[in-house]
Amino acid sequence: MKVVRLNNFFGAEVQGIDLRNLSTKAIDDLQRLWLEHKVLVLRNQSLTSEEHVNFSKHFGNLEIHPFANKHVDYQEIIVLESGGSTKKTHYSATDWHSDVTYREKPPMGSILRGVVVPEVGGDTCFANAVEAYSRLDLETKNAVSELTATHDWFKKNHHVLDKKDIESTRKKYPLVSHPVIRTHPETREKAIFTNNFFTAHIDGVDENRSNTLLRRLENAIRDPSIQIRVKWDETTIVLWDNRCVQHTGTDDFLPAHRRMERTTILGDRPF
Ligand code: SIN
Repeated sequence: MKVVRLNNFFGAEVQGIDLRNLSTKAIDDLQRLWLEHKVLVLRNQSLTSEEHVNFSKHFGNLEIHPFANKHVDYQEIIVLESGGSTKKTHYSATDWHSDVTYREKPPMGSILRGVVVPEVGGDTCFANAVEAYSRLDLETKNAVSELTATHDWFKKNHHVLDKKDIESTRKKYPLVSHPVIRTHPETREKAIFTNNFFTAHIDGVDENRSNTLLRRLENAIRDPSIQIRVKWDETTIVLWDNRCVQHTGTDDFLPAHRRMERTTILGDRPF
């Protein structure tokens, strides 16, 4: 197994393994490397959807996503697809976020596979939320260190629901509060844990203050010098740690067809 770092802060490409045939030692190594590098890019892996699910289960139990389109045969896989003949003329996963943070226990990680990759565009960008936190100015760090923020699925997902289902879905997925700065349960690193998709507001401060602080945190994540950008092909798999990394897709491939399949690994309550 060869590990090639992608920049000076995080991300690594792991070469020389076959995800369909992993020894216990290789699984341990991948778990360790994932914690260390936060994003792992695995090339030359021709997995079926079933193999994708089986590989993902090495990292934990898998989430059945409450809203996203799911694979017809594998409920654990969400399908992120647009362009081509899909009639979807825009791509929705295009802003910085960590996955499914509106859950009480948001997922610890996600594993994305390129299935139909456009000739150009459609890269995925990742931001190191630990490095983003560490670069905040002291005043902002002090201001947000003890705060929590409310996360709400409605912000991003309301359009996929029938009006009649909104109330029952609210009951199933009530608003949740998470620390604005979360501590990674394994590495103990601190990371920004507000995001543009699901964070509705910072708790206990007025709307202006909440907007100001959220904008500062967002700008820290948007800093290109703490990011990496992954180019896809149909044999690429990427694993990321949602507890300390944010990501965004890019919609610069449209109207070409792009189909990605993602598994999502259940996580803990943030602290
Ligand atoms: C995602 O947000 O999980 C998907 C990102 C992408 O499509 O590049």
